[in-house]
Amino acid sequence: MSSDLIGASDRFRAVVEEIYTVAAVHGAVLIQGETGTGKELIARAIHGASARRLRRFVPLNCAAIPATLLESELFGHERGAFTGAVAQTMGRFQAAEGGTLFLDEIGDLPLELQPKLLRALQERQIERLGSEGRAVQVDVRVIAATNQELARMVEERTFRADLYYRLNVLPVTLPPLRERREDIPLLVAHFVQRFAERQRKVIDQIPDDLVDALTQHPWPGNVRELQNVIERAVTFTTGPVLRLLKADAPAPAPVSKSVKTLAEAERAHIVAALHEANGVVGGWNGAAAKLGVSRTTLIAKMQRLGISKQRDPRAIRRSETLNRPQNQDSRSTTNEGGSLSSTTI
Ligand SMILES: Nc1ncnc2c1ncn2[C@@H]1O[C@H](COP(=O)(O)OP(=O)(O)OP(=O)(O)O)[C@@H](O)[C@H]1O
Ligand SMILES: [Mg+2]
Repeated sequence: MSSDLIGASDRFRAVVEEIYTVAAVHGAVLIQGETGTGKELIARAIHGASARRLRRFVPLNCAAIPATLLESELFGHERGAFTGAVAQTMGRFQAAEGGTLFLDEIGDLPLELQPKLLRALQERQIERLGSEGRAVQVDVRVIAATNQELARMVEERTFRADLYYRLNVLPVTLPPLRERREDIPLLVAHFVQRFAERQRKVIDQIPDDLVDALTQHPWPGNVRELQNVIERAVTFTTGPVLRLLKADAPAPAPVSKSVKTLAEAERAHIVAALHEANGVVGGWNGAAAKLGVSRTTLIAKMQRLGISKQRDPRAIRRSETLNRPQNQDSRSTTNEGGSLSSTTI
């Protein structure tokens, strides 16, 4: 198993267990998970833990190849099958003989090709383009991956149900990073070590507040996004202490997630009313009327809370423009005064 599979959370350990289970059997595997969660890494780990590990792992990204070329790419073609087909060519299925074919972005496999893949999985036979029905036997383990919801695509009839069930014999679902935050400090340490080595640097201190801030971040791009942030940090760190680029420093965590202070609640309410009124404060349809206060009271509150109006030139009258700068509320600013300030450059 690859030593590069980092993670110790219960969710991640469960995935690793699944890798061993599915590696021991032959059926197709469907790996689902958000972008950057490690689907390809897991596919390689399954291959590496299987009896096929000495044969090839052949990846094919279904989204990266034009639909018209995909069939020949998968199954190969005979000489003269189409203009430019000057010689018989093996497809990826045959290239993966005895090994594993990794079909990435399987949700992008065109509908017309789906029955052909189903046949390859069911009967272990493929037909080269232009071969006029001559089937070739193949021994290939298919691992497919997608960040799309295939079950929903089946409901919407953009993905064939029979192929879905055939692929989903052994499902592996990768949890997003925000659902296994315990793994973040481990991943940070791993990536710092990897990139520091590559860049021939010695970075042996990772400030706690930096790790804390990274652990709080939602990471919509998952492990890949974290990896990129650390690579940039290592690139720009000059001493032994890791520093994040200011642009990459996640905003400090809010004071409290569930309970707002009164000022925060008031602020949110006013901002919503202003938004609804297109930034207009006074008048019968303005935010003040919606909130049941006078225009001057609302302006005073806005100044106190540091709220400026939505800058819609059609909606804001010049005379009403407030001079107060935005973001007076320190909780709504990023970086300044936050826990990362000492660790950013
Ligand atoms: N658990 C992990 N340990 C170490 N590195 C990881 C882990 N998970 C992901 N990575 C790294 O994060 C990057 C993204 O992983 P990968 O390419 O496998 O994601 P993916 O799910 O296939 O993403 P996409 O859907 O965007 O193709 C890779 O460089 C991979 O090595
Ligand atoms: Mg991928």
